[in-house]
Amino acid sequence: MCGIVGAVAERNVVQILLEGLRRLEYRGYDSAGVALINNDDLSIVRRIGKVKELADAINDKNGKGTTGIAHTRWATHGGVTELNAHPHASQARFAVVHNGIIENHATLRTELKAKGYTFVSDTDTETIAHSIAAQMEISGDLLQSVLTAVKTFEGAYGTVVMDKQTPDKLVVARSGSPLVIGLGIGENFLASDQMALLPVTRRFIFLEEGDVAQITRDSVEIYDINGDQVEREIIESTVEHDAGDKGGYRHYMLKEIHEQPTVLRNAIKGRISQDGLQQGIFGEGADEVFKQTDYVKIIACGTSYHAGVTAKYWLEQYANVQCDVEIASEFRYRRSFVPQNALLVTISQSGETADTLAALKLAKQSGYMSSLSICNVDGSSLVRESALSFLTRAGAEIGVASTKAFTTQLAALLMLTLALGKHKEMPTETEQQIVEGLIGLPTKLEETLGLAIEIEDLAEEFSDKHHSLFLGRGEQYPIAMEGALKLKEISYIHAEAYASGELKHGPLALIDAEMPVIVVAPNNELLEKLKSNVEEVRARGGIMYVFADKDAHFESDETMRVVQVPHCNETIAPVVYTIPLQLLSYYVALIKGTDVDQPRNLAKSVTVE
Ligand code: F6R
Repeated sequence: MCGIVGAVAERNVVQILLEGLRRLEYRGYDSAGVALINNDDLSIVRRIGKVKELADAINDKNGKGTTGIAHTRWATHGGVTELNAHPHASQARFAVVHNGIIENHATLRTELKAKGYTFVSDTDTETIAHSIAAQMEISGDLLQSVLTAVKTFEGAYGTVVMDKQTPDKLVVARSGSPLVIGLGIGENFLASDQMALLPVTRRFIFLEEGDVAQITRDSVEIYDINGDQVEREIIESTVEHDAGDKGGYRHYMLKEIHEQPTVLRNAIKGRISQDGLQQGIFGEGADEVFKQTDYVKIIACGTSYHAGVTAKYWLEQYANVQCDVEIASEFRYRRSFVPQNALLVTISQSGETADTLAALKLAKQSGYMSSLSICNVDGSSLVRESALSFLTRAGAEIGVASTKAFTTQLAALLMLTLALGKHKEMPTETEQQIVEGLIGLPTKLEETLGLAIEIEDLAEEFSDKHHSLFLGRGEQYPIAMEGALKLKEISYIHAEAYASGELKHGPLALIDAEMPVIVVAPNNELLEKLKSNVEEVRARGGIMYVFADKDAHFESDETMRVVQVPHCNETIAPVVYTIPLQLLSYYVALIKGTDVDQPRNLAKSVTVE
């Protein structure tokens, strides 16, 4: 979703800003822009399309400035046009970039128009620029004007403002949309994501909700939600600088699929050994909380939600703990009941998903005993807002379609199953099976990635298809859901997932030779049931692609193509069977020629509701 970069320095900052935007491209956007102050001159350049179009439009005349802000926009209010792209200006003096949505923009627009401000775009963001201009008429001070103006905004914002009359200063404000300040020597920076600034600094201050900060070349002043000046911790980033490289792969998504054995190794390192789960890996006080936990509520969105649904099967079957899973955007707008001794678990790659964050805030007020976040980004809003956190250590995920973040979430949830099961008389045999499964998982994934060539060949058969059906049973049902989500996201083929026992309750009507049916078939206790479902499809002329264990004894024939997945321990099968489905969606998208890493209309981090 939208990205922000800003800099105040002695040198020309335009290349820093453009590089920052390039490093945020993975988040998804439709237009880009930059505003620079050079001496007392304000220049703004905006373009529809990629950052490259913007960079091509920058020249010696409009590309100079020691203070600047830049933005990649993902349209919410107003179409994808140059006039709606950020930065937005007021009085040819103030320039503003903004992530989030100002929900009361219509009211503000009417008020500001009545005061004589002229609007040139359809965006909510332009109200920020004019609101600050209006406050400047009263206070004459940029920081004061922002502190006052933000009180009139409803909704979410991460915003940065500059004034050409005070050229060595940026003022930033955060509420519901992340912002991080990057500290340099004699220069300072800011961005919506630290990834943007890794080429120039590794020292960061993550702003907290309600913070407003004034940034100059050699000072950072931060004010909290009450307007009191505060100190915030400086954090040395451990994120790899070159996490943004494709490492020889054609797409980030393919690189990230192949990184899974390595990141899974990292995810379990120091956390699990032959002796079992290590102490204290869920943070201080976690064990006390787990001891009392009788019920788990999982909240997440998209792929992270699918990880949650898988965990429900594990928690109830192996750990003997009742669990419900809910999509964050549903949970936050309905009344729900909180059982006794309930633990709230949120799952998120980014830790900034607006709905998940809002659901967590709501749940914290409604009687949950404690909250745990399973997240990939240290210092993210979700981690900071949760009582307990567990980092998945997947490393930066750049492809919009989540892959390694999902499998590391699954590993984290298996570890949570062990941690909770310990207090619920989990049989030693089950515990040992999960422990061995996790320890052997990286190697098993390496083996499974060996299917890539076979799946690339199979993907050819999908190139002219418009619809598809994914089937699974038990804990493979959410894996089928995840497979369908991957395929639709990046190849734009309509894909639906069903628990295969549901087939005869409706979806069988869809079956014909034009509708490929993808079946996930490990060798588990539901295999015979699944085989009956497969026969139902065959009897109606369906064409199937079955990912199966060799002991499941499926044979390829004219109606069925079988791909043998390496045999694995049942507890880790959902993780293993995810891999072929990721590869299938990748190769189908490749054949279809879609934008694999930045699929249309999607954003990596969904920071608006
Ligand atoms: C799909 C995908 C999304 C995210 C969802 C939640 O490939 O990546 O469905 O899973 O937007 O994002 P996080 O996990 O960052 O909360």
